[in-house]
This record gives sequence, C-alpha cells and structure tokens, in this order.
Amino acid sequence: MRFQFALTLQALWTGVCQAAMQHYPAAWGHYDVCKSQVYSDEGLTWDYMACQPEAADMTQYLKVTLDPPNITCGDPPETYCALENPYMCNNECDATTEELAHPPELMFDIEGRNPTTFWQSTSWKKYPKALLVNITLSWNKTIELTDDIVLTFESGRPEQMVLEKSLDYGRTWQPYQFYATDCLDAFTMEPKTVQDLTQHTLLDIICTEDYSRGYVWKYDKTVRFEIKDRFALFAGPRLHNMASLYGQLDTTKNLRDFFTITDLRIRLLRPATGATMVDENNLSRYFYAISDIKVQGRCKCNLHANSCVFDKEKLSCECEHNTTGPDCGRCKRNYQGRAWSAGSYLPIPKGTANICIPNNIGPVTRVCDELFRCQNGGECINNVRCNCPPAYTGLLCEKPRCESELGGCAGAESGQAPLTPPSSTWLLLLLLGSMLLRATSC
Ligand SMILES: *[C@@H]1O[C@H](CO)[C@@H](O)[C@H](O)[C@H]1NC(C)=O
Ligand SMILES: *[C@@H]1O[C@H](CO)[C@@H](O)[C@H](O)[C@H]1NC(C)=O
Ligand SMILES: *[C@@H]1O[C@H](CO)[C@@H](O)[C@H](O)[C@H]1NC(C)=O
Ligand SMILES: *[C@@H]1O[C@H](CO)[C@@H](O)[C@H](O)[C@H]1NC(C)=O
Ligand SMILES: *[C@@H]1O[C@H](CO)[C@@H](O)[C@H](O)[C@H]1NC(C)=O
Repeated sequence: MRFQFALTLQALWTGVCQAAMQHYPAAWGHYDVCKSQVYSDEGLTWDYMACQPEAADMTQYLKVTLDPPNITCGDPPETYCALENPYMCNNECDATTEELAHPPELMFDIEGRNPTTFWQSTSWKKYPKALLVNITLSWNKTIELTDDIVLTFESGRPEQMVLEKSLDYGRTWQPYQFYATDCLDAFTMEPKTVQDLTQHTLLDIICTEDYSRGYVWKYDKTVRFEIKDRFALFAGPRLHNMASLYGQLDTTKNLRDFFTITDLRIRLLRPATGATMVDENNLSRYFYAISDIKVQGRCKCNLHANSCVFDKEKLSCECEHNTTGPDCGRCKRNYQGRAWSAGSYLPIPKGTANICIPNNIGPVTRVCDELFRCQNGGECINNVRCNCPPAYTGLLCEKPRCESELGGCAGAESGQAPLTPPSSTWLLLLLLGSMLLRATSC
C-alpha cells in the first residue's frame, strides 16, 4: 500500500505550480519538495531543498500490544454495570460473538459509528489489587508528532494513568505526562496544566488533573497530550509563526527529540470509580473502555524525503539527496564524499538539503560552491569549507549557535526570524499538511 501516492502527485503538482508562479510569496517554507530543476549558466541543473513528508493519521500503521495479554473482556463473558447506576447492567461482553466483542482494533476504527465501537477491559474483579493495563503502540519507525494525542474513553476516564514514550523501539521508556484526579496523592507531583509551561520549561514532564474528573465531567470523555499548545510556545497562539518553531526545532536537539517517538504506551493504573468509595459488592462497575486513539504525525526522514511508504507492514522514508536507511540517516554507498548531515529547516523558506555527494568528484571534496552557497554571510573557502560568522554553525552556516539553550534561539533577537507572519489560517492548513493549501496557493 502506497499511502503517499496522492502526496507524490501533490508534490508534482506543486512543482508545476511553482514553475508557473515564480514570484510565489515564499514567506516561509513548505518543505514538501526535495528538488526542482533550475536553469543556470551550465544549463538545466537541480536545486535541492530540505523536505519532509506530509503529516498523516499514524494509527493506520501501528501494532498494538496489551499487557496483560488476556485483559480484554469477554473470555469468559461478563456483564457490566454503569458507573453511575449499579442497577443498570446492560453492557455485555462476549469475545465469541462479534456484536458483543471489544477487541483492541476497535480503538483505531472509524469513529462516529452508531453504536460506538470500543475496546474494553475485564472488570476490577480482583479489587483491591490494582487493575493495571498497558496499551503499547509500536511503529517500528521514528515518527514526529504534529498534533495532540487524543484518547476517547467510553468508560469513565481513568483516575490514574501515565502516557509514556520510547525513542528506541521499546527498549527504554520515558514518561510524557501523568494524569490523576489527585496528582499529589497518586504521583507526589504538583498538579499543573500545559498553560503553566513556558519556552524554558517546555520539556518538563507534568501531572495534570484536567482529564481525570469522573462524575462532574461525565460527558467529557477525552484525555489529551497537548502537542499544539507546546508548539504554540514558539509558534504563537494560533501557530502563526511556524518558522520560529522550525528554527528552534532545527537548533535544539532535545526539543526535536521531545516530539519524536517510535512507540507510545498508555499505562492505565486506576479506573474511574465516581465520586464515591469503591463499591466492593459490585465491581462490575469498574473497568476501562476506549473508543478512539488519535495520533497525527509524520515519518522522520531527517529532511531528506517528502514521502514515506507503508510496505510489508513497515513504514520507511523514500530517501532523496542520495541518502538511505529507514530515516534517511546515512549516505548511500559511493556518496560518502562528506559526512552525512540531516537537512535543515534554515534558512527559511527552502531550508538546506545537505545532500550526500559522490566519493571522488575531484582531488578535493566540494562542500560549497555556486550551487551550495554558505549561508548567513559565511564565506566559501576553496570549495572545501564554509568560514561561518561567529553566531552560526553547520556545514553551510545554516544554524544559529544556540543548540544548548532551549528558548535561546527564540524570538526576533536571534536574527533567524525576519518574518512577517502570513495569515494564520494559511499556516494552520500548512501544519496539517492540507491539500487545500496547494489549491489556494496556485
Ligand atoms: C490472565 O492470565 C493470567 C496468567 O495466565 C491469570 O493469572 C489471570 O487470571 C488471567 N486473567 C483473566 C482476566 O483471565
Ligand atoms: C507496563 O509497563 C511498565 C513500564 O513501562 C512495566 O513496569 C509494567 O510491568 C508493565 N505491565 C503492567 C501490567 O503494568
Ligand atoms: C522493524 O523494522 C526492521 C527493518 O527496519 C525489521 O528488520 C524488523 O524485523 C522490524 N521489526 C518488527 C518487530 O517488525
Ligand atoms: C451488581 O452486579 C450484578 C451483575 O454482576 C447485577 O446483576 C446487579 O444488579 C448489580 N447491582 C447491585 C446493586 O447488586
Ligand atoms: C544521486 O545519485 C544519482 C546517480 O546515482 C544522481 O543521478 C542524482 O542526481 C544524485 N542526487 C543527488 C540529490 O545528488
């Protein structure tokens, strides 16, 4: 299955579109084209750009694992009662009957079906022993998150849960966010909300009470991990200055890694029990049920690919710039004329491709020339290196030197954001990788 086929077409379309419109208002980058043909003194040549795949619904490409494996309801069949009313017991689960089964796949099917389809756990029969469930989502590919992670509960929302992430295919895990009705009691953490975060504390892991209240908030069924609110700390309230965010992502590895995952794990630690004490005589009221999980993101291709294919149950970048590997993380054989380097979002709008170059194109390896110009006032020395001004680094001086300090490159004083923010809707569409954008820009 080639889910990027349409996107490749789009890229072509954009190419045509740009050729037809040379004075395209390139206030900032799209990063959807990896190369384009240009006329120069030497005739037709290629111009290379930093590029990345469109954001997509990533739940289509994951593998889900439950721990314990037999925690799904229905084997043996069970009848559940409503949390609010122990006499209302019409929720039946039977794994052997399709209409009454609640397998994990139902968390990723189309929402809006009537009746709702959902995964459901066994009930809290072993109370007071904790009812613990891990739901692990694995992509076997590095993914960059582009929008909030949203879980929709069919049961009451859990009183305690942790969202965890892995960046190394499930070998190690770090918490992303803690959720509890009482953060101090559950995790000895002060309750916070995403609104408490600043540019400098963006990487802090918080415990929030926003998504755990049961009874009062009965109709509020979602639990979020707020990606966009975090983006907004750099890109502004309606993400009108994505360039500032991209600039920051480019120069701050920690920040980039924060939004990058290979796996996610939802650790359910305590189900909703309502405002009252646990009713030990009717434990059929307590369980977890999830109707939907949303994960939006894009394949991480180190800015060397604008499409990512799902083939043989596996996502991989379609690498350009003579790079290779699932994340375009190395140079192809015979193209190791200089060290591999990720592409760069800077300078806005086209970024820097940092392509891999052939092994022996001459007595010396060319790093910079008329085509690969040193950026930000850097000077090309004998085609082998850029002599960068003190404030810049990178192969072509494309990066401000503020890697170590989060927030250090933000704002106008950094000199990397000489931007007039274009219309905010325009940029939102862009973030969402919308096709509409092309329609309006041509
Ligand atoms: C699941 O399996 C474990 C170990 O095999 C067993 O102890 C437990 O009772 C089972 N749970 C359910 C709900 O069947
Ligand atoms: C769930 O994952 C955590 C670590 O992420 C692990 O300690 C725990 O044993 C796992 N299983 C259950 C049932 O909680
Ligand atoms: C993950 O992908 C690699 C190739 O990149 C493959 O060799 C491996 O078998 C995959 N693992 C799983 C669990 O699918
Ligand atoms: C308790 O659960 C059973 C099913 O397990 C149900 O028949 C009964 O009506 C429930 N309510 C009370 C108050 O016992
Ligand atoms: C990569 O190498 C091929 C030859 O194998 C060449 O035609 C192509 O232009 C190169 N691409 C880049 C981005 O340098």
